[in-house]
Amino acid sequence: MAKKKIEEPQITLIEKDNGDVEIPKQKEFYEIPARFGSVPVDEAPLGYEVETRRRETKITKFEHAYPKIYLPFQEVERVSFGHGDKFEKTELFPKGANRLFFGDCLHIMRQLPSKSIDLIYIDPPFFSGRNYNVIFGDKNEMRSFTDIWEGGMPGYLVWLNVRLYEMKRLLKDTGSIYVHLDWHASHYVKVEMDKIFGYDNFVNEIVWWYRRWSNASKNYQRMHDVILFYKKSDNYKFNIQYQEYAKPEVIEQTVRGVIEGKLVRLRDEKGDYIKREKENKGVQCHDVFDIQHVQPTAKERIGYPTQKPEKLLERIIIGGTDENDVVADFFCGGGTTPTVAQKLNRRWVACDQSRIAVSITADRINKLVSAKGRMFDVPDYTIEHWGIYEAPMLEKYNEKEFKEFVIKAFGGKTESVSPYIHGVRHGVPLYVGEPSRNSKITKEDVKVFAEAIFKERNSNYGTMIAWNFDREAKRAADILSARENIRMDFVRLNLIRLEDEEFRQHVVSKHKDYEELLTFIQPPEIRINYTRLSKLVYKFDVSESVSLNKDGIIANVQWDFNFKHRFKSTDGYAFLRDKKTGKPILIVDYEFKAPGNYKVGCSVQDDQGGEKTEIMILEVK
Ligand SMILES: C[S@@+](CC[C@H](N)C(=O)[O-])C[C@H]1O[C@@H](n2cnc3c(N)ncnc32)[C@H](O)[C@@H]1O
Repeated sequence: MAKKKIEEPQITLIEKDNGDVEIPKQKEFYEIPARFGSVPVDEAPLGYEVETRRRETKITKFEHAYPKIYLPFQEVERVSFGHGDKFEKTELFPKGANRLFFGDCLHIMRQLPSKSIDLIYIDPPFFSGRNYNVIFGDKNEMRSFTDIWEGGMPGYLVWLNVRLYEMKRLLKDTGSIYVHLDWHASHYVKVEMDKIFGYDNFVNEIVWWYRRWSNASKNYQRMHDVILFYKKSDNYKFNIQYQEYAKPEVIEQTVRGVIEGKLVRLRDEKGDYIKREKENKGVQCHDVFDIQHVQPTAKERIGYPTQKPEKLLERIIIGGTDENDVVADFFCGGGTTPTVAQKLNRRWVACDQSRIAVSITADRINKLVSAKGRMFDVPDYTIEHWGIYEAPMLEKYNEKEFKEFVIKAFGGKTESVSPYIHGVRHGVPLYVGEPSRNSKITKEDVKVFAEAIFKERNSNYGTMIAWNFDREAKRAADILSARENIRMDFVRLNLIRLEDEEFRQHVVSKHKDYEELLTFIQPPEIRINYTRLSKLVYKFDVSESVSLNKDGIIANVQWDFNFKHRFKSTDGYAFLRDKKTGKPILIVDYEFKAPGNYKVGCSVQDDQGGEKTEIMILEVK
């Protein structure tokens, strides 16, 4: 077979993107070790594109398949545990709080700083072709499911590679990554990870061995998942852990001491050697993790099929980090990784593109922190949205926050020199309207902005961004264009879904003729009816609640029957599903422990990312 020539493109630049994220040079990542000779794999990870045009090599990275979209984060909540001011503000934690993101992890990661994370564990959808990845019946989840499967295995690998590539950038040089997979794709992903992280940076193929019962079938029972463990460099952190010997036995050793200057074995009064039990640390943990699945009755169980056991994450997090190190999970699902990281006093970043997963994760952290017996101060955490924004919250922003948000979303930079020029994008001055959705740009606004760009920038081109423009404003712009040759573009903030082809086109064409922007969502409207069934027993019904988002339906309901300070779901009331249909249960019964006045919290999520919590006071008889 003719040996394939490996062409090495000249990629040595350190790039700075407008998201202010530094991309480390990646040249080395697809160097196959020389001892391999020719191997039947592509040189670059699937999806990573290198174009050579007229002797010029252009690196597009993964941007053909996954264009960059820089949008702002919207903090919708800061959950405070009372020690917020004790924690350092860093580039990754600008407010000193841990971060829980709602959105597609790729775009979120692209806006996080390089070399800021110690350990990444991910449990992405597996390419299993099975629907169990659609765990929440949530459209955001559904979208990822269809995206991944559209292009078959190569499509799945490109989808994962672009994310792994970012993860490598985010890891500190001492960091490591664990990618949880199973037989469906683990061997293909290993090849890609060899290319991205380097074959020599592979550390272990961990077999997670679990027990489960299934019917007899014509194969050996499938009882393990695979976790691929890579280091970022040889200088990676690793804490050795021990497990019990398979057959624990007590080993005795004779006690030694110095008598008359000599080291001798000591004897007791009877003349027998003195013995003691040898310290028995067990055996160093090996790469087969024998850990039970989350049991049906376990306290940690939330109720969806892909939940991983806390013990598994404990082993991984203890192995790769020390206290206060940063652990990240960008497919956090029900929040096992941040929960365990929190228990072990690590800082954390978590992300999921399902709003329900984010709510469940938040609920789990809140419950954990309010449980008694904490040994250390816990940082606050923020819930931040990316790309799907809560419109009512945006209206509550003050003018400065609103302008900053909109300008960042538009890909520009804020400016505060002139009261009428709020920002600039590609040299074009920007003007942003008021936060209220009823506000309108008037002809006076157009005039003052036109004057400002002319006088202060000696320019005749500007862009105005606002919820609405009144007719007179449009006429004023036409007149300016006809008489003064001033071009005034209007960009209307509008409710447009991020996954629309139209939006994609705007992004791909680098925002040219970019007229509409962003997805805004409304929280659902919660309507609670309740009836007393018998002594202390009540029925609660939220089936009349409605999603206020287009095509939205209620996707999950959580209950806190004894609300105090902050929402913490009552055990068994975080994720209720009808066993036959899989649909969310909207009518529940609950038996209170004693009569009295209770605050009952009800948190509802819809399948478009909308979420709302309501608290009612109930006199229980
Ligand atoms: C297998 S589950 C993770 C379960 C988790 N390890 C646990 O113990 O609960 C995979 C998760 O990835 C999320 N997901 C899928 N595509 C995503 C994406 N592009 N960005 C962020 N999250 C994504 C899904 O919503 C789902 O919750």
